[in-house]
Amino acid sequence: MVHQDRLPVPEVADLLGITPEQVVALVKLEGAARQRAGTFPLTSAVPDRGHTVTATKDAVCDQHGPYLSEQWTLNNPPERLPENMRSFWGQCPQCDRIQQPEVERRTAEIRNRKANQDALRKEQFRASGIPERYIDCDVWHWQHGMEKQREVWEVVKSYCMRIEDVIQHGRCLVFFGEKGTGKTHLACGIVRHVVERGWAAMYETVAGAVGRIRSTYSKGSEETERDVLDQFSRVDLLVLDEVGRQSDSAHDREMLFRILDLRYADLKPTVLASNLERKALYEFLGQALCDRLLEAGGRFLNFDWASQRSRRRPDSDTDKEQDR
Ligand SMILES: Nc1ncnc2c1ncn2[C@@H]1O[C@H](COP(=O)(O)OP(=O)(O)OP(=O)(O)O)[C@@H](O)[C@H]1O
Ligand SMILES: [Mg+2]
Ligand SMILES: [Zn+2]
Repeated sequence: MVHQDRLPVPEVADLLGITPEQVVALVKLEGAARQRAGTFPLTSAVPDRGHTVTATKDAVCDQHGPYLSEQWTLNNPPERLPENMRSFWGQCPQCDRIQQPEVERRTAEIRNRKANQDALRKEQFRASGIPERYIDCDVWHWQHGMEKQREVWEVVKSYCMRIEDVIQHGRCLVFFGEKGTGKTHLACGIVRHVVERGWAAMYETVAGAVGRIRSTYSKGSEETERDVLDQFSRVDLLVLDEVGRQSDSAHDREMLFRILDLRYADLKPTVLASNLERKALYEFLGQALCDRLLEAGGRFLNFDWASQRSRRRPDSDTDKEQDR
């Protein structure tokens, strides 16, 4: 009641026959109760940004003749707003009505432009090879309630935050671990982050990359093997997912290694993801390549927790507690 009426504290104290200190204490109590109840807390009430008609005068519109002009004044002007911008005189109501569609058109245009920008961004992500399922994935919303997840996330976060440095020095990351632990999600998040910053990034599975190279061997192919290898080696950041997943032929492995070789020579960063376990992955990649991947501060990150596929998106605190 106190805050609704916006009465000064001494007046309320008088009305209720209690001391001003008691009024303040009551208001605090009620505020706390509201906060607990999830209703709007007293202390953070949004200031009223409405207007009030503070004066009227006779005016004449060139086109529509005489009308009564109203002066509108901001109820709670922000402190730094200059005096002459705190109120304004309304124009002819008929002109207002005529201009309304134009105002709406412009508002719609602004809204459309925003939607178009979003669509354009998504198109860029698709063009970078991010699969539709992962098109909205980003690094920042990747859940990291478990200690092990958090360790991984911190590394990936700082990788993204130092992306210029990463690209300049060709720092690599290798994600490995069980299915459904969020490797592809995070890798796509990195691609997105890089693309948003105006660099070129590409997501591809090893099978997809090898398939693209192989398709150049067929007669009538417009691209040569060299063209495709160039594309993979030129891009500022490349994600190669599902390393060691399919029944790799010697040729597939050789192609993967050639891509990595080219990128290594150019100091370009690559992010690999695999659901091989550590030992099998080391064996698959070989010591020399592992050493290279670790150069320039590269990291192998173990996604060592249960699949997140069966779960709903974990976003409540209780979910996080259960994970610990
Ligand atoms: N930490 C997380 N936060 C939010 N979503 C997650 C997280 N981990 C996994 N997911 C979601 O779970 C699903 C499986 O994750 P993802 O496909 O990235 O797993 P993966 O490790 O690549 O599995 P695989 O080895 O089978 O390719 C996805 O929908 C992904 O968005
Ligand atoms: Mg995956
Ligand atoms: Zn008018």
